Amino acid sequence: MSFEGKAVIVTGGGSGMGKASALSFAERGANVLVADISGDSAEKTVEEITAAGGKAYAHTFDLRDRDQVVGMIAAGVEQLGGLDVLANVGAISANQSVEEMTLEFWENMQTTNLRGNMLGMQAAIPHLRERNGSIVNVASGAAFYAVPGLAAYSASKAGLIAMGRVLAQENAPYIRVNAVLPGPTKSAMSDGVKSTAAVAAKRAAVGQTIGRWLDPSEIADVVVWVSSDAARAVNGALFRVDGGHHML
Ligand SMILES: NC(=O)c1ccc[n+]([C@@H]2O[C@H](COP(=O)([O-])OP(=O)(O)OC[C@H]3O[C@@H](n4cnc5c(N)ncnc54)[C@H](O)[C@@H]3O)[C@@H](O)[C@H]2O)c1
Repeated sequence: MSFEGKAVIVTGGGSGMGKASALSFAERGANVLVADISGDSAEKTVEEITAAGGKAYAHTFDLRDRDQVVGMIAAGVEQLGGLDVLANVGAISANQSVEEMTLEFWENMQTTNLRGNMLGMQAAIPHLRERNGSIVNVASGAAFYAVPGLAAYSASKAGLIAMGRVLAQENAPYIRVNAVLPGPTKSAMSDGVKSTAAVAAKRAAVGQTIGRWLDPSEIADVVVWVSSDAARAVNGALFRVDGGHHML
């Protein structure tokens, strides 16, 4: 899979799957904008890419801020000279039952995971159409399985999947939009989510399928493949990259 000369934006590129995806795109010849709320971690990813001979730029932005999201896409288009791939990987996760949920908690989740990505995709559409580009949304298996406490997160990810499929229809045949649904993967996010009994039970079930937690690079492999020419016939598809977790 070559991305020689391709322009790629990866959000959440400072950590976990976003970082692994940015490294992999760059290794295959892409010029990458590594966008993240943490400027330091985005810079670190860029340093690794540059040290390996690749080309990348760091960009600090907050998915919750409309102007910063639109500005991030504009900066990417300018620095990379156009746009071929938008990989929406950045997100937050936290748990709170529906009964106890505060409006602030709900709105923060939807504003980050759903509205932020909508604004990014909206701003990217004209640039991606010019190049027959591709969007990949990193959602979650949680969009389909029901874990108590994850209502807001699951809703944001189900919304992202639905929105992406509509966008794919609206822009066919010019922009492909696909979703990757990771299962339990070792990262800052999975380390940070409060482990309620329900979350712990779902995590314990990892042992019944692939028998281990996934590595961010294993999700990145599918993110990169679905963005490549090898997947040129793939559109509006969902990929469960979870070692079989969804079967339980
Ligand atoms: N880790 C898992 O088990 C798991 C499972 C299913 C889905 N996912 C999804 O995979 C994706 C990557 O998660 P990860 O596990 O690599 O987590 P991670 O925490 O390592 O990476 C998420 C990145 O998003 C960035 N981010 C957070 N809020 C932001 C904001 N407001 N603006 C811009 N950037 C922001 C963070 O700084 C971080 O670099 C996420 O979309 C997550 O929902 C993760």
